[in-house]
Amino acid sequence: MGNAPRAAEGFLNNMSSELKTVFVGLAGLGNVGAGVYKNLLKNGDLLTDRTGVRLQVKRIAVRSPEKHVGLQIPEGMLTTDWRDLVRDPEIPIIVELIGGVTEAYDLVKTAILAGKTVVTGNKALLAGHGYELVALAEREDVPLYFEAAVAGGIPIIKAVREALIGNHIQAIYGIINGTTNYILTRMSEAGLGYGEALGEAQALGYAEADPTLDVNGWDAGHKAIILAWLSYGHWVKPEQVHVEGITQISQTDLTFARGMGYAMKLVAVIRLDATNHIEVRVQPCLIPQSNIMANVHGVMNAVAVYGDIVGETLFYGSGAGQNATSSSVISDLADAADNLTNEAGTNNGFVPQGHYGACLPVDETLSRYYLRLRVDDRPGVVASISTIIAEHGIGILSLVQPEVDAGADADLMLMLHQATFGRMKQAVAAIAGLECVLAVPVLLRVETLKAR
Ligand SMILES: NC(=O)c1ccc[n+]([C@@H]2O[C@H](COP(=O)([O-])OP(=O)(O)OC[C@H]3O[C@@H](n4cnc5c(N)ncnc54)[C@H](OP(=O)(O)O)[C@@H]3O)[C@@H](O)[C@H]2O)c1
Repeated sequence: MGNAPRAAEGFLNNMSSELKTVFVGLAGLGNVGAGVYKNLLKNGDLLTDRTGVRLQVKRIAVRSPEKHVGLQIPEGMLTTDWRDLVRDPEIPIIVELIGGVTEAYDLVKTAILAGKTVVTGNKALLAGHGYELVALAEREDVPLYFEAAVAGGIPIIKAVREALIGNHIQAIYGIINGTTNYILTRMSEAGLGYGEALGEAQALGYAEADPTLDVNGWDAGHKAIILAWLSYGHWVKPEQVHVEGITQISQTDLTFARGMGYAMKLVAVIRLDATNHIEVRVQPCLIPQSNIMANVHGVMNAVAVYGDIVGETLFYGSGAGQNATSSSVISDLADAADNLTNEAGTNNGFVPQGHYGACLPVDETLSRYYLRLRVDDRPGVVASISTIIAEHGIGILSLVQPEVDAGADADLMLMLHQATFGRMKQAVAAIAGLECVLAVPVLLRVETLKAR
């Protein structure tokens, strides 16, 4: 994104020719911000050896300074007004780690307009305002870095932007929310119920006190929007993304899935179809146990990227947490400092400009399906259900109904051939209207996680 930005000019003139110090304004000293502060101190010498620059936090903005005495922050470094960071002419880099959208948007926009380089880990901000903020950063000729916004410590942004720069991205499949992966892992491996597994994740600090954005799939949805933009040049609008969470997943479905050789994962799918249409969706999916992604357990994340030249690549690591996420922020800081101090500018990969293809409406997306129905155990039930499925032009791959006592309700599980989501939903709506169907049908995607 260009050479040394405007706000850096004064500060560059003040640098000694030997060791260059680049000051950083850190907004937010919570989970990630505190990690950045501590790890910059811990590995500062290493960074200096490797970059020739000393990165030094000069000011930190927080809401409640009294909360942070344990970190032994030097006197005068804390402020409750992030504008103090932006106003400081010695600070060329602002790190936004306050979270949320409204205030973070003001902060990032103000910093860009002041000519400051911005580093953020805020996926919700980018998913909602990325289009505007990236355009603004381009116009103001200042870099905007966001490695920590997707998959925490996994350097997936760098991988797509830099290492895979020569590839058309065919597909990305991501397990990119650690909280939901932890819950599904514990439900699957320890037989816990959804509520119990969520409680455990909260007690261990993996889930927020309010875990809504994790369990309803939108945290992964925000990250998928960023990956889609990097891959296809589109800022897909949140309303164009189909997002389902994991709250409806039950032990019954996990057991059926396992019995057929599948694991259940919340998967972000970002891919281009043969007609140049992009699908961006997040759904709980059955994926083959034989796929390496099925063995991504607990809070770990994994992202599989298919490029037309490179083929399949897989990135695995901690998708959240203080140290892992701060590692990504520090990597952005090193790039930012390098960009500021290297007058020739540095290559930090491309800024997506292309607009490859339009968004595919979710009803037109294709996959195989798992359908579970709670039914009356009486003659003719299977025939009426399979008739409706056939009338919608969908093939049945397999059908399982475990034995139950006479007169008891039964679970009927069907694996279905590939069909559009729209047609599948119509079939399910018709099946749900049958008298013999006793509960809301459970419909899940089956994904093979391959490039098309
Ligand atoms: N946590 C993760 O593992 C992770 C992973 C990837 C990305 N991220 C992203 O990183 C960002 C930060 O996450 P986090 O978990 O570190 O959040 P957090 O623990 O809630 O910390 C937020 C920090 O921001 C400060 N703050 C909030 N509003 C402020 C304001 N208006 N002015 C000044 N300071 C303000 C808070 O101050 P006080 O401490 O004084 O209240 C706190 O120090 C979020 O965008 C998140 O999505 C987090």
